[in-house]
Amino acid sequence: MKILAIESSCDETAVAIVEDGHVLSSLVSSQIDIHKKYGGVVPEIASRKHLEIVDRLVLQAMEETDLTLEEIDIFAATMGPGLVGSLLIGLSVAKGLAISLNRPFIGVNHLYGHVYANLISYPELRQPFIVLLVSGGHTEILLMEEWNTVEMVGKTRDDAAGEAFDKISRLLGLGYPGGPEIEKAARGGSPIYSFPRPLQEKGNYDFSFSGLKTSVLYFLQRNPGVSVEDVAASAQEAIVDSLVTKTFDAAQNLAVDKIAFAGGVAANFLLRERAIEMASKRGIRVFFPPIDMCTDNAAMIAVAAYEKAKRRLYSPLSTNAVPYLSL
Ligand code: KG4
Ligand code: ZN
Repeated sequence: MKILAIESSCDETAVAIVEDGHVLSSLVSSQIDIHKKYGGVVPEIASRKHLEIVDRLVLQAMEETDLTLEEIDIFAATMGPGLVGSLLIGLSVAKGLAISLNRPFIGVNHLYGHVYANLISYPELRQPFIVLLVSGGHTEILLMEEWNTVEMVGKTRDDAAGEAFDKISRLLGLGYPGGPEIEKAARGGSPIYSFPRPLQEKGNYDFSFSGLKTSVLYFLQRNPGVSVEDVAASAQEAIVDSLVTKTFDAAQNLAVDKIAFAGGVAANFLLRERAIEMASKRGIRVFFPPIDMCTDNAAMIAVAAYEKAKRRLYSPLSTNAVPYLSL
């Protein structure tokens, strides 16, 4: 079964073709350079840029795979959450292709996409497992009970982990998006400063990252000339420590022995290293998507669509963009 999926929920236009869960082509065109100078994504610009490039990416994916559009069995697109104008571009193109070729259409929840990115590396991964979903907009510990049933175990009370990386990066005068910039800077420094790890009471699986950002701000004001690399390493350490400790405690408490990581922050090397260390200590297996499939891409959307397609769960053509779609 060949699925062509389009992802356009934020500032990446992506097209992928996946056959029975195997990625044949995955193209991502990032708008980061355009939004960089504004310090964040400008929705109006994002949707225009999606529109400019999406058909070219579809054609490129067809060329790369030597397939014709007639050979595609199902068309899929992210239906939410995300920026409404951006979502509408991918949705309209996928629905248009489905109508013109008389094929089913599947609308995909972007968050399930991030979770199912793990199936690209581990097709054998089965529920129940714990998910740490850490992206620019989400920080959640989830219990995945069935393929489409999720229970919230813990979540951030303020900023998402990716948002914390982005905001702290800005305070440090580093670039956007902040995660990879902080990771790079941290390699040249040491985590010698202790920043807060809030909500540490036993059994509390919620996160809070806004205090960390404020704490870094005051620290920089009090210590002008401090090494950016050391502060980056220390902030990264605080974020990763909170994420890993709480996720493993939650898994242990729920007696679940598998943890899958999902979302842009799951690309972080320190997070992976710490999770692997803790996994071997606690007898828990950890799963990570390929690094380039942690951040937004269409292969994860196609793989999530495949889970629905196997169950013949097609979406009506009246499917609309849902900016605040939850899991
Ligand atoms: O999943 P994603 O691409 O988009 C959303 O759906 O939000 O996640 C983007 C977030 C950004 O906040 C970015 O700073 C963070 O993921 N990120 C990272 C890394 N790569 C991306 N954070 C830490 N380390 C990284 N290597
Ligand atoms: Zn995402």
